[in-house]
Amino acid sequence: MAALFQGMPSMQPLHTLLWENLPMTTPWEPKRDMPDQTGRVAIVTGGNSGVGYYTTLELMRKGARVYMASRDPERAAKAIAQLRDVKDDDGNLLKGEVKLLRCDLSDLESVRSAVDEFTQQESQLHLVFANAGIMFPPYDQKTAQGYEMQFGTHVLGHHVLIRNLLPVLRKTAAIPGQPKGAIRVCLTSSAGHNMHQRKGFDKHDPEWAKPLGVIGIRLPEQYHQIFRYGHSKFCNILQSKKYDREFGNDGIVFTSVNPGNMKTGLQRHMHGLGMTALFLSIQPILYPIQKGCINQLYATTAPENANLGGAYFGPWAKLSRPAFKAHDEGAQDNLYEWLEDHSKGFV
Ligand SMILES: NC(=O)c1ccc[n+]([C@@H]2O[C@H](COP(=O)([O-])OP(=O)(O)OC[C@H]3O[C@@H](n4cnc5c(N)ncnc54)[C@H](OP(=O)(O)O)[C@@H]3O)[C@@H](O)[C@H]2O)c1
Repeated sequence: MAALFQGMPSMQPLHTLLWENLPMTTPWEPKRDMPDQTGRVAIVTGGNSGVGYYTTLELMRKGARVYMASRDPERAAKAIAQLRDVKDDDGNLLKGEVKLLRCDLSDLESVRSAVDEFTQQESQLHLVFANAGIMFPPYDQKTAQGYEMQFGTHVLGHHVLIRNLLPVLRKTAAIPGQPKGAIRVCLTSSAGHNMHQRKGFDKHDPEWAKPLGVIGIRLPEQYHQIFRYGHSKFCNILQSKKYDREFGNDGIVFTSVNPGNMKTGLQRHMHGLGMTALFLSIQPILYPIQKGCINQLYATTAPENANLGGAYFGPWAKLSRPAFKAHDEGAQDNLYEWLEDHSKGFV
């Protein structure tokens, strides 16, 4: 019997998804509740759009210097110009700064150069938002090094970024007088992570190569991308938990979040009848785009979360529960070993 369902995802009970989205109001607002960030430096991947854009904006409102790690200089320049024009409630420009850091997470060479460029300009780094993402690109779209686009960008690209940033993060954490929990890294996951592989992470099928099949019926390749997206977002949670076990003692707090559901650039690949129907069906559960930054800013800046390394946060501004399998240290270790192997030459 079990063999019939091999290749099927593990789906956490729906109540988890529902529970995650209730209540619909947030007890924590970045504008009102985020502590001052003056003098602190942050990197936001994918800061030119959607969740990353508002994460950057709110950090700037509180005085941070934010590096927008973006793959497209033109889109980034446009977003930067807009952010530099935003005014606070008193009619003043936001007190923080924003700078471009050219970084294509789907090319590990570009990720490594971005870190070199960053460390030439800054000697401290307080916050990293591993936020950039892509959803349901064509099945055979690959990264520069030949990995599936979603897994390669979300998981391997961010791994190479974080591993290369570790020296500057450790150095910042070790500065005398640095408050405990001041240095934090957050990986942006998704409620979609619940559609993970049954095994959690399989080193022999790291990207979940084959379309799902039940009783011999296979999903068309493009629909398998839905599950691969969930798989990559599940791996982001495994990563954050493993990093916390590996590097938490260096004074760096690693967390992951589900940012909520918002209409952003993420849905750009939802074409065709089935995908359009799916897109329309999720409309009623989409929140205003501005809300997408709440959970990751809460995870990384609220003083009460300073000791919560490895935690997973959900809508809105609350500690949440990821899929059971995300707690599997064996799966976390397997993924980490695979990532270390495949980062050789780039870290
Ligand atoms: N929106 C939601 O409902 C939702 C729900 C759950 C999780 N999330 C997660 O939230 C994160 C942000 O998504 P979003 O909703 O804000 O979507 P978005 O508006 O499309 O923003 C995604 C950002 O990631 C960037 N990006 C994509 N591939 C990249 C690469 N190879 N290198 C560097 N940057 C890259 C995009 O750059 P370009 O502008 O150049 O494309 C864009 O800036 C993603 O990780 C997503 O999985 C979103």
